[in-house]
Amino acid sequence: MVQLTLPKNSRVQKGRHHSAPAGSGKTKTFKVYRYDPEGTENPRWDTYDVDVDNCGPMVLDVLIHIKNTIDPTLAFRRSCREGVCGSCAMNIGGRNTLACTHGHADEPGHECSIAPLPSMPVVKDLIPDLTMFYAQYASIEPWLHTTTPEPQKEWIQSPQDREKLDGLYECILCACCTTSCPSYWWNGDKYLGPATLLHAYRWLIDSRDEATGERLDALEDPFKLYRCHTIMNCAQVCPKGLNPAKAIAEIKKTLAERVV
Ligand code: SF4
Ligand code: SF4
Ligand code: FES
Repeated sequence: MVQLTLPKNSRVQKGRHHSAPAGSGKTKTFKVYRYDPEGTENPRWDTYDVDVDNCGPMVLDVLIHIKNTIDPTLAFRRSCREGVCGSCAMNIGGRNTLACTHGHADEPGHECSIAPLPSMPVVKDLIPDLTMFYAQYASIEPWLHTTTPEPQKEWIQSPQDREKLDGLYECILCACCTTSCPSYWWNGDKYLGPATLLHAYRWLIDSRDEATGERLDALEDPFKLYRCHTIMNCAQVCPKGLNPAKAIAEIKKTLAERVV
């Protein structure tokens, strides 16, 4: 298991404890990172005893249960509740994952910690500020670049070329990988990080794209690409089972082999 550091503003105090109401069934304690930009007790760990027999099976169900029945001030992101949108990514029991697909029963012991994605500034509680992450993604221009005249119907791609995108297009941009990468923790302002580089590779190998040279030029930089040291945290935590480290290695190989 990859144990990760806490978010940037962490000297975390002990916070409030919320006991389960009398008559509750089986309880489990959830230790939740709290940060309120307008508050005074920042940051802190609040603990909640949750009647796990009385809420759904996932960690997101626990958070919704806490918000609805114990503490309406708790803030977190979620949307699809089925591992598609990526918005509920957080650090659960020391590992980045999606709260909506991670079962609370899968966390061993009586207590489970829940914190925002590591190394990012925190907006509130479990909500990280992903502004830089999205700006880095936008910087690789994640769309088809072409110079030949647009076809009347569609850009044709053979089944074999389409298959090359498998293992790449499934990325939901949850940022679990990027925020678990030690190289990104130290050089996040300059290193693009695993998620963005996985997408960079996705466009590099798209048979319909006509800007391969320009894309490679933009990546050939000591920080943007070469800060990856194959530590592999990214592949270990990806909730979609993708391997950004492999994609990064392929970009490096392509750059090494290209004839300038
Ligand atoms: S393999 Fe590269 S991108 Fe992945 S965690 Fe390690 S250094 Fe980061
Ligand atoms: S590669 Fe995996 S962990 Fe990284 S952003 Fe995409 S889906 Fe999330
Ligand atoms: S709520 Fe969409 S991935 Fe979890």
